[in-house]
Amino acid sequence: MFFEEVLLFEDELHDHGVSGLSVKIRVMPSSFFLLLRFFLRVDGVLIRMNDTRLYHESDKTYMLREYTSRESKISNLSHVPPPLFTEPNEISQYLPVMEAMYEKLEFPLIPPEETSDSPKSTSPIKSL
Ligand SMILES: *[C@@H]1O[C@H](CO)[C@@H](O)[C@H](O)[C@H]1NC(C)=O
Ligand SMILES: *[C@@H]1O[C@H](CO)[C@@H](O)[C@H](O)[C@H]1NC(C)=O
Repeated sequence: MFFEEVLLFEDELHDHGVSGLSVKIRVMPSSFFLLLRFFLRVDGVLIRMNDTRLYHESDKTYMLREYTSRESKISNLSHVPPPLFTEPNEISQYLPVMEAMYEKLEFPLIPPEETSDSPKSTSPIKSL
C-alpha cells in the first residue's frame, strides 16, 4: 500500500569508501515493515552494516524488533566479487553477524474506559 526509502545521510569519506544511513518502510494491508540501515565501507579495510528491523501485524499487540551488526575485513572477502562491495543488499550475506538482538515490544495496556452516560464515551477514537 505504501513504500518509501529515505537516505538520511551519506558521506564518501573523501573518496575512501562510504558511510550512510537509510530507512525504508513498506506498509501492507495488515502489517508494516521498517528497516533502518547503517552501512560503512572503508576501501581496503572493512565493511560494516548495522540493521534495525521493525515488524508489526495489525491484529497483534506487539512489534518485533531485530538488530544485527555484521562486519568483515575486506581482506577476508577475497572470494566475493568486488562489484558487490557497493551493494549493501548483496554483500550482507557475506558479512558474519557480530551482534544480534531480538525483542518483542509489547504495547502498554490501555485500561477500559469507565462507563458513563456522557456522549464522550461513544467517541470513535476510544478504540485506538
Ligand atoms: C554498529 O555496530 C558496531 C558493533 O556492534 C558498533 O560498535 C557501532 O557503534 C555501530 N554503529 C552505529 C552507527 O550504530
Ligand atoms: C574470515 O571468514 C571466515 C569464513 O567466513 C571466518 O570463519 C573467519 O572468522 C573470518 N576471519 C576474520 C578475521 O574475520
